[in-house]
Amino acid sequence: MKSNMAKWLDNAIFYEIYPQSFQDTNADGIGDFQGIISRLDYIKDLGCNALWINPCFVSPFGDAGYDVADYYTIAPRYGTNEDAKQLFEEVHKRGMHILLDLVPGHTSVEHKWFKESMKAKENEFTDRYVWTNSIWEAPEDMASIRGVSDRDGSCAVNFFSMQPALNYGYYRIDKAWQQPVDAPGPVATLEALKDIMQFWLNMGCDGFRVDMAGSLVKNDEDGKGTIELWKKIRKFLDEEFPDAAMVSEWGEPDKSLQGGFHMDFLLHFGPSHYNDLFRCEEPYFSGRGKGDISQFVEKYLESYEKSEKKGLMCIPSGNHDMDRLARTLSQEEMKVAFAFLLSMPGAPFIYYGDEIGMRYVENLTSVEGGYSRTGSRSPMQWDDGVNAGFSTASKEKLYIRQDESSDRPTVKKQMEEKDSLYHEIKKLIRLRQEHKALQSKGEIEFVYAKKNAYPFAYVRSCEEEKILVVINPSDREESFEYDVNAGQTIYTLGGEIKMETGRVTIPGGSAGFVVL
Ligand code: NOJ
Repeated sequence: MKSNMAKWLDNAIFYEIYPQSFQDTNADGIGDFQGIISRLDYIKDLGCNALWINPCFVSPFGDAGYDVADYYTIAPRYGTNEDAKQLFEEVHKRGMHILLDLVPGHTSVEHKWFKESMKAKENEFTDRYVWTNSIWEAPEDMASIRGVSDRDGSCAVNFFSMQPALNYGYYRIDKAWQQPVDAPGPVATLEALKDIMQFWLNMGCDGFRVDMAGSLVKNDEDGKGTIELWKKIRKFLDEEFPDAAMVSEWGEPDKSLQGGFHMDFLLHFGPSHYNDLFRCEEPYFSGRGKGDISQFVEKYLESYEKSEKKGLMCIPSGNHDMDRLARTLSQEEMKVAFAFLLSMPGAPFIYYGDEIGMRYVENLTSVEGGYSRTGSRSPMQWDDGVNAGFSTASKEKLYIRQDESSDRPTVKKQMEEKDSLYHEIKKLIRLRQEHKALQSKGEIEFVYAKKNAYPFAYVRSCEEEKILVVINPSDREESFEYDVNAGQTIYTLGGEIKMETGRVTIPGGSAGFVVL
């Protein structure tokens, strides 16, 4: 499906804010919207021009807010709808944009829709969720909530047990209780979703990151029903909010882009091989140099071809669901990783704190449905003040315990150290902003990406501009055959690239960009 992509996405560089953990201004130990507003200049100065905020709506926080109880109201812990409006305005004043997190697949059991749908007597919300007709029958392939209502039936869940699945219908009907996508229940759910989107877009947000976007229509192995559903949404957006940006958590760009999403994420699960690069036993970006880039590239190219070489796949530095980069990579290794992350097509996403190499906090007890993810969600480390400048609450009140090591990175320290990760990232962002070939839509051609080999090289191009990017995370000098005349080097990390006729050589632990 063709939809006009909001112009700003061409050069968007996102910063993901996990609102609980970014900046607390009312000393309750939890971050808030006024805190985000107070740090916008920091984000802008880093070079990021767009934000993604994790779910910030009323919720019992059994899954950190991905269990929404009221889609129309900001959770009081973060502020009010007025604060949200102010945040949108402050973001726009700085020439930046903001995506909210839309959770269309499920709600919390505390949502009033669910409470109504549990009633035995038929009502407007009876078909809002996926229910079987009898408590003795459970939906196949999905867990369910059973025995909690007067209504006779089992309700399918989408993720955790307290996240009942909203009903967008079934693509293939196998059972009497499964409803087609055009039945009144699924149609009403879709209308409700549009209404939510309309509400926040009218208030001034610029679009959505969409949670589990590929999961909506059930019995839909090839995603055809879900693609059709998103096309309907895109049509509605094109009519009413043509500039609204949509980024999907789907992990299959060939499908999501057909559905009208502008960009899709490469995820830490699914077929992308993304974690071969950063988070496996021998990550490609480790100096040990025992990793493999080839399967990642193979998969990447498959999606790239299928999505018309639009390069609209976003490669995040991390997110609230996966281990921090610093758990497997050193600061120097992360610099090389960011040279890659910030020179690939699609909008880059920097997870808050990754720009200073924040660590995964080990041995935390799960907080609000975080489980092993909790260690990546600890409060931001700004300076050497109380609670690293995150909050003036007592330490015990902090929503998640911080990294307490004496050498924990902070924004202040990283700003003071000339050769810090923070400064490297800033430099890389500036370069990306100066060169169209490096931005979201510039094409990519891999020129060296061999199995179990280093370095890794690609050419980014846009109109007349061509930039060769060579990345060598291993700690040894490496080279490859490449027939090109020397060009102008615009970026070096860790040592000069040598280009002699037919061969490119690059020192260990380095990266270089050369305009051809
Ligand atoms: C993906 C989100 O990123 C994750 O944090 C959440 O738990 C699940 N979807 C369920 O909404």
